[in-house]
Amino acid sequence: CYQNSMLRIFHRKHLLLNLNKNLTTQLSQQPLAENQKVVSFDDNVKQRRDEANRSILVQVQSAHSFHELQSYCSSVGTVKKMMHYSTGVEPMHFIIVEFAKASDLQNIYTMSSYIEDTQVVPVQSSYLWFRAATKKLSKNKNKSIHKLNVENGNHILRDNELLQVLNSCADVNEQMVNLHNSTRLNEVGTRLRFLVAKQIEMAISGMFPNSAALPFGSSVNGFGKMGCDLDLVLRLNDESKVITDETRLVYHCKALSGSERSISQRHMEVIGDILQLFLPGCSQVRKILQARVPIIKYYQQLTDVECDLSMSNTSGYHMSDFLYIMGAMDHRVRPLIFTIRRWAATVGLTNSSPGRWITNFSLTLLVIGFLQNLPKPVLPSLNALVKLAGKNDKYITDDGINCTFLRDINVYLATNPIENTDSLKILLLQFFVYYSQFDFSSKAICLNESMAIAKPEHSALYIVNPLERGLNVSKNVSPEELEKFRLEVRNAAWLLESDETKDSNWGIIPLLTAKRILSMNNGNLPRTKLLEVSKLFEDDKDGPVYKNNDVKKQVQ
Ligand code: CTP
Ligand code: MG
Repeated sequence: CYQNSMLRIFHRKHLLLNLNKNLTTQLSQQPLAENQKVVSFDDNVKQRRDEANRSILVQVQSAHSFHELQSYCSSVGTVKKMMHYSTGVEPMHFIIVEFAKASDLQNIYTMSSYIEDTQVVPVQSSYLWFRAATKKLSKNKNKSIHKLNVENGNHILRDNELLQVLNSCADVNEQMVNLHNSTRLNEVGTRLRFLVAKQIEMAISGMFPNSAALPFGSSVNGFGKMGCDLDLVLRLNDESKVITDETRLVYHCKALSGSERSISQRHMEVIGDILQLFLPGCSQVRKILQARVPIIKYYQQLTDVECDLSMSNTSGYHMSDFLYIMGAMDHRVRPLIFTIRRWAATVGLTNSSPGRWITNFSLTLLVIGFLQNLPKPVLPSLNALVKLAGKNDKYITDDGINCTFLRDINVYLATNPIENTDSLKILLLQFFVYYSQFDFSSKAICLNESMAIAKPEHSALYIVNPLERGLNVSKNVSPEELEKFRLEVRNAAWLLESDETKDSNWGIIPLLTAKRILSMNNGNLPRTKLLEVSKLFEDDKDGPVYKNNDVKKQVQ
């Protein structure tokens, strides 16, 4: 027990040290170097799926089983990478083993077997456990091949650890970059999510060898934090396997009967049952089939991932591509959105359960809308990307939604360099100021045109869905929640703008800790503070315009 707790203390120290080391290297790598290309969303997803197709997840006694497992797997195939993580209060330990070839995995499956127990369902999957050896092994045979890696690769930074990181920064910009680097979904978290997707594909591969369970949402759009949910869309026949002129033999298939929606609901019922009855680790399966987009919610306890599985939400995948592009356009976008998402969660504007509040997705669109609308924009409108779309960018979903826009942002950046050079602190302050003066009563946020447009109907907050323009992404937001948002952005602008001290509560720290002034004053900012904030603006007949230079002077 003593040994275990010493080991844990060692891991934690090691983790913080490593974190600081990583952050320093990442800081110096922020903007894209010249000639450095951004990997497209599709290529990124393809590479991750391929990695998952060559990987298994093995439960082990402890991180110290690393060498023994490595030596065992190396006798079957070529091990490319191994990563440890643990989950649970009484931690269960796992190692992700990535092989060089998919055929190595086939050998692993051939060599593995099932526990002799009539009480279990004998399912083959990439989730395995490593039995203790029956014969004594010569210890640490291959120790030199891989350095022992005992860090928990799935560790979510605690609030006090994050504060420590933020406090050690030189300025607000560094705080925002470090907040992003230390809380974003990391390598292990990403691999685990693709392994969860693969588990479903593998389970139905007999009937649907071309199925694809595609992750979308924050797990892949570049705005996901450690521990974020996994949104998945399951396609039974991935579109790349369609009939061509050369195809002569065609599969006999069952005809579908009933409405598309009712068929989809029936299929999801069955998939939900498969998850619940047959797949290791899948628990708490809930079928929400009456929703506009029917989903199955479940918890994958071996990977510690909450999942939302749908079968008809392909526009969500393209929306994630759009958000990924927006995040990859400029190195400031992701740290800015991470800071704003964290601030919104701290002050209670967002909530992990659905309701009348702003979602992380809506909030992300608000930030993008703001960055498009600056006098010197940081981001282009969606229409600008639509105009540049090539023939490989054409996508129309099964339900007719046009998702055509330029995917290769290197093409856009080559002719449209971003001229805005404001610091992250300035952008953050400008965001708060912009929305504290925004005319929500008559205007809607529209990312297609990079401008606020007249509100088509009377929802409190109207954000045009960029891919389905007739829909309001934030229809769920109540007038009270919008008012709270307006108060909180004012409060945040004031807090950030009046930051002069450098004690332990400086920079973005006050934005990310406790409920502050609003709760002290029952939701009302002190009048003097409101006046100070409103000095940052001037009114204009087209809506509030931010006095860019004034604020710049104050924050520099
Ligand atoms: N989505 C959409 N239209 C909506 C809501 C969601 O297209 N009205 C898509 C977006 O691509 C979004 C994804 O569905 O990113 C998943 O939605 P959600 O889980 O609510 O948001 P995330 O971006 O995943 O954020 P979170 O970390 O809160 O899960
Ligand atoms: Mg999500």
